[in-house]
Amino acid sequence: MQPKHKAMLHFILEPYKRTSWGGAMNGQAGRIRLFRDIFSVVQPSAIIETGTFIGATTKFFAEFGVPVYSVEADERVLAVAKRNTRHVRDRVAFTLSDSRSFLRKLVSDPQLCKSRLFFYLDAHWNADLPLADEINIIFDACTEAIIMIDDFEVPGDSYNYDDYGPGAALSASYLDAMERTDIYRFYPSLPASSETGAKRGCVVLCNDLDARDRLSKLESLRPG
Ligand SMILES: C[S@@+](CC[C@H](N)C(=O)[O-])C[C@H]1O[C@@H](n2cnc3c(N)ncnc32)[C@H](O)[C@@H]1O
Repeated sequence: MQPKHKAMLHFILEPYKRTSWGGAMNGQAGRIRLFRDIFSVVQPSAIIETGTFIGATTKFFAEFGVPVYSVEADERVLAVAKRNTRHVRDRVAFTLSDSRSFLRKLVSDPQLCKSRLFFYLDAHWNADLPLADEINIIFDACTEAIIMIDDFEVPGDSYNYDDYGPGAALSASYLDAMERTDIYRFYPSLPASSETGAKRGCVVLCNDLDARDRLSKLESLRPG
């Protein structure tokens, strides 16, 4: 059976593949508002997503009128994502790859990296956690990058987050261990109790003062 057809079969038979945690950004209305706020103050020239899955968030990103790049390592789910986003295919470029090699190639384009870029890092799924490499690749090359990491612990709140074992929980200490001094952190102001959907936490990072000032003005974010 062709990978594409296998993916369609899974899509029909496995309900979680249809719902994708309740839609774009885990079905979280607060997170969607937060993204809209960030987009309006930083006006990125492109949106880059790692971990496409079936394209629920990719389709949402395609509403914003800027190019969307999305990378996925599993060809079966990527085939489903392509089908789910066929109405916006002129705005979305998919790549079947590991997120690290995809990002290294992407940031090697000097023109792209000179502009403000928004990265949504969501390629965490198993023991091979690409997150630290993804962050280093982006911030080593791009001076005006905004990164939102999904599934991240929000200090002092009860949002759900990913924990892949010692040294691999998506939390502030994971970022601390990277020993970068050029990262400004922000967390959602909205308490988990008022969020909808899967109530996954997130952190927003930037590495330049102008973005830090713009993000600081948003009521939907608090500095971390
Ligand atoms: C949590 S899901 C992404 C959900 C999607 N962003 C959304 O909002 O609906 C994680 C996806 O990352 C993919 N993935 C895991 N490791 C990866 C890697 N190193 N490179 C690219 N994709 C990866 C998995 O196959 C899975 O489809």
